[in-house]
Amino acid sequence: MTNSDAPAVRIADLGKTYPGAASPALTGVSLSVARGEIVVLLGLSGSGKSTLLRHIDGLETPTTGSVEALGENVTALSGRALRALRGRIGFIFQQFELVGPSTVLENVLTGALSGLRGPRVGLMMYPRSLRERALGHLDRVGLLDRAYQRSDTLSGGQQQRVAIARALMQDPEILLADEPVASLDPESSSQVMGLIREIAAERGLTVVCSLHQVDLALSWGDRIVGLRAGEVVLDTPTGEISRETVMEIYGRVATSTSEFEAVAAELAEAREQVLQNELRRGSAERLARDTVNEEPA
Ligand SMILES: Nc1ncnc2c1ncn2[C@@H]1O[C@H](COP(=O)(O)OP(=O)(O)O)[C@@H](O)[C@H]1O
Ligand SMILES: [Mg+2]
Repeated sequence: MTNSDAPAVRIADLGKTYPGAASPALTGVSLSVARGEIVVLLGLSGSGKSTLLRHIDGLETPTTGSVEALGENVTALSGRALRALRGRIGFIFQQFELVGPSTVLENVLTGALSGLRGPRVGLMMYPRSLRERALGHLDRVGLLDRAYQRSDTLSGGQQQRVAIARALMQDPEILLADEPVASLDPESSSQVMGLIREIAAERGLTVVCSLHQVDLALSWGDRIVGLRAGEVVLDTPTGEISRETVMEIYGRVATSTSEFEAVAAELAEAREQVLQNELRRGSAERLARDTVNEEPA
């Protein structure tokens, strides 16, 4: 039934107009993502990133065009068949979407729900083999020691790592991530983005991740697909993008002067952050060196 030669995602001429909306959220989007590819959807707020990701997971119905995931026509599926396809696609969100009062381990275990019958309340409702797998995934994201802690006591970066572990419980083939670091500080952001890349490489996952930061997109993705006002305005491997073309990309992604200025300011801020980190690292190294030099002979 499944066609393993098919690309992970194949979208043809996708258009989406939400009921009552004055203008379409997506227009004529065509996009093919190979298995194992790491793609960034880059665009400002409102450019259609979430709408596009939600179509891949069958959470939205196209107005026009078609969406295939893992060789299946997403739009044609419903009920059990759609749930089965969704079971092969992990999704992580900007706001983590954890159940705050539940433990970290329980949250991770809910990732296995699509493969289990009936509701589960409490850890003991899950088979031991699943609990062991969940602990393994928590170990992978560096949070094994937090397994029995309430999820809402963790930092944002830790919560997103729990969400990654939860997605892994599905043993997904595709991982969709919708601005996974938009609520995080720069340090947690790079930790989470690094983890997603590492795990994708380990498991041969296909990743489609939306971001609004050009710098992050350039340094992280293999390929950037730029969206502006619901249209694809850029589709290129990151290796071919020089620093000099960054501002041009901003120009293509932004729709107005004010947006352009906003993203340019963001770029300046990101560069400042890098500089600060380098300075901090430099002084830490100097300190370490001096400390060593001061050791008595
Ligand atoms: N459920 C919805 N109903 C109506 N309009 C929506 C809905 N979701 C998104 N939109 C509109 O569709 C456009 C694209 O939104 P979205 O996909 O959320 O963009 P992004 O994720 O890039 O910020 C925006 O104009 C937004 O207001
Ligand atoms: Mg969005």
